[in-house]
Amino acid sequence: MKKQKLIAEINRLRRERNAVILAHYYQEEDIQALADFVGDSLALAQWAAKTDAPVLVVCGVHFMGETAKIICPEKTVLIPDAKAGCSLADSCEAEAFRRFTEAHPDHTVISYVNTTAAIKALTDIVVTSSNARQIVESLPADTPIIFGPDRNLGSYISRITGRDMLLWDGACIVHDRFSARKIQQLHAQYPDSVVLAHPECRPDVLELADVVASTSGLLNYVVKHPERKQFIVTTETGILYKMKQQCPDRTYFPAPAVDGHCGICRDMRRNTLEKLYTCLRDLTPAVTVDESMAGRALQPIRKMLDLSAQLGL
Ligand code: 13P
Ligand code: SF4
Repeated sequence: MKKQKLIAEINRLRRERNAVILAHYYQEEDIQALADFVGDSLALAQWAAKTDAPVLVVCGVHFMGETAKIICPEKTVLIPDAKAGCSLADSCEAEAFRRFTEAHPDHTVISYVNTTAAIKALTDIVVTSSNARQIVESLPADTPIIFGPDRNLGSYISRITGRDMLLWDGACIVHDRFSARKIQQLHAQYPDSVVLAHPECRPDVLELADVVASTSGLLNYVVKHPERKQFIVTTETGILYKMKQQCPDRTYFPAPAVDGHCGICRDMRRNTLEKLYTCLRDLTPAVTVDESMAGRALQPIRKMLDLSAQLGL
């Protein structure tokens, strides 16, 4: 089907189904352009919690659909491609994580939202890159903490909060592959550029970055600093769409990665307009989560949403 026809059909079906389309910033441009809401992981969870629509289409990766389904078990939650996984979530296997937490029973378990429902069910508080710092800081200073699964985000949060957290050794294959050396070379070519980096990047990248923040944090920085004209963007390149849309007068350089890699998350890009259309038409693939696991996973997600609301995030 031609693109214009696909978009018209998606618009017809979303009305017919009374569906809301949520998209992460890492989705392809056409999907971001027609979504009801585009945001980072925290914002998508917050949106899922507040919408009345009976059908949610989560254009993102599987854990995002799962999180929405856990928050809204009564809704039909669809994901255009159910195979859209996440290397970071895959780097934390539930049985091994259970043994890790059981070996440290006095620790509060904080898990990044990029985890399966099984990991969330073993967790005390879920965080995203938008609220991890504030949530860690909201705990009493002497609270021992396990932080998983992202070692880069975990060591960054440890450094900026001064908390000595026990870290799980996981990583995202997209963010972990940005090259500090190549970024430095690019910056030498454009010395006025601001280096923006997502905290899932390696410590050497974060050390040279001018701004470290979640995807929405990086976007906000660009919006709030009209005096800065050039940016090296060290995160998935999907964010460039919103940056260019909101601030077309600036120049953006996608950050270079180590040889053989680029800043594109292939899992995120499994979702296409065509698959969005067929999932609205057929109401499948629908995300399902085992009921008792969902019940256990809901508590740390709720804690995150409540703490974020209290902290004004
Ligand atoms: P945020 O949406 O929290 O910025 O995280 C980025 C990410 O990797 C999502 O998969
Ligand atoms: Fe997972 Fe990394 Fe892709 Fe985000 S960018 S969905 S963390 S693999």
